[in-house]
Amino acid sequence: MRAPDKPDRNLALEMIRVTEAAAIAAARWAGRGDKMAADGAAVDAMRFVLSGVAMDGIVVIGEGEKDEAPMLYNGEHLGDGRAPQVDVAVDPIDGTTLTAMGRKGAVSVIALSERGTMFNPGPCVYMRKVAVGPRGRGAVDINASPTDNLRELSKRLGKPVQELGVVVLDRPRHSELIAEVREAGARVLLISDGDVTGAIATAWPNSGADILFGIGGTPEGVIAAAALQGLGGEIQGVLHARDDDERRRAEEMGYDLSQVLSTDDLVTGDNCYFSATAVTDGDFLKGVRFTEFGATTQSLVVRSRSGTVRTIETFHRHNKLQEFTTAGF
Ligand code: FBP
Repeated sequence: MRAPDKPDRNLALEMIRVTEAAAIAAARWAGRGDKMAADGAAVDAMRFVLSGVAMDGIVVIGEGEKDEAPMLYNGEHLGDGRAPQVDVAVDPIDGTTLTAMGRKGAVSVIALSERGTMFNPGPCVYMRKVAVGPRGRGAVDINASPTDNLRELSKRLGKPVQELGVVVLDRPRHSELIAEVREAGARVLLISDGDVTGAIATAWPNSGADILFGIGGTPEGVIAAAALQGLGGEIQGVLHARDDDERRRAEEMGYDLSQVLSTDDLVTGDNCYFSATAVTDGDFLKGVRFTEFGATTQSLVVRSRSGTVRTIETFHRHNKLQEFTTAGF
């Protein structure tokens, strides 16, 4: 294949500014007990920076339907309308409670992919998920039991089940899953929120996490798929209805609740972009630090086509930024 004449644009690099602004705005609310205020600040900042990006974006995963979310609502057009045409998934804060409580692990995230390539969760709030890093790709099957998956992953990674780290959201609905994983001999790494980061951890060298199991948000599953496309990992999901009503509504809208959604089903194609900036400290990114002169942020930026993974630390200067932006600085 002939190499392109000039380097093409990496939109992920422009998305760092988006998640940085949202993370800084959210971090001002960290530990103040008000998750709505934190989320509102992150949404405002994210939307402001997105409005200046040269792209024709449509929000596929946003803050909800237009009548309940005035900004970053599903279907909203973002960017200045110029090419490229992209689908957009935003989570201004994954971990709103973590932020409000001043706990670790909150991030601001965004994912972009070519128009029409992102799975639309519609009314399906939850998804059962399994995620692994690059070495575990192809070794897991969401329809197999956790025990069988751990056995297969152990063979693939060449380490005993007893050494596997299994990320699970700490929820009562996972009590059987947790018991089975422990029974199989593996270590359960409970997280109180934030399964986008939990999924990324499986693909992050030396994080101690080898696999993620459990039911979490469908939007977070799609966003994790965009990140894992670039990091070389894999996620599988099956939509999960909380009750018969939710199941009926989803089926009426054409969703198949038995279908296994692969990484490619969630974000198709090899051209997606992901950016995350830590709001509070996490396992692989430091949260926002405010200083006398400004703030520092750490971000993870991934592009699937090139497979390039960047961690970027940025210093933001209040006095300069206040002259030309209102994006949370
Ligand atoms: P929010 O920050 O948007 O509240 O999401 C946090 C989160 O932990 C996600 O990472 C996860 O997918 C989802 O909530 C799990 O949902 P629930 O808290 O209802 O179990």
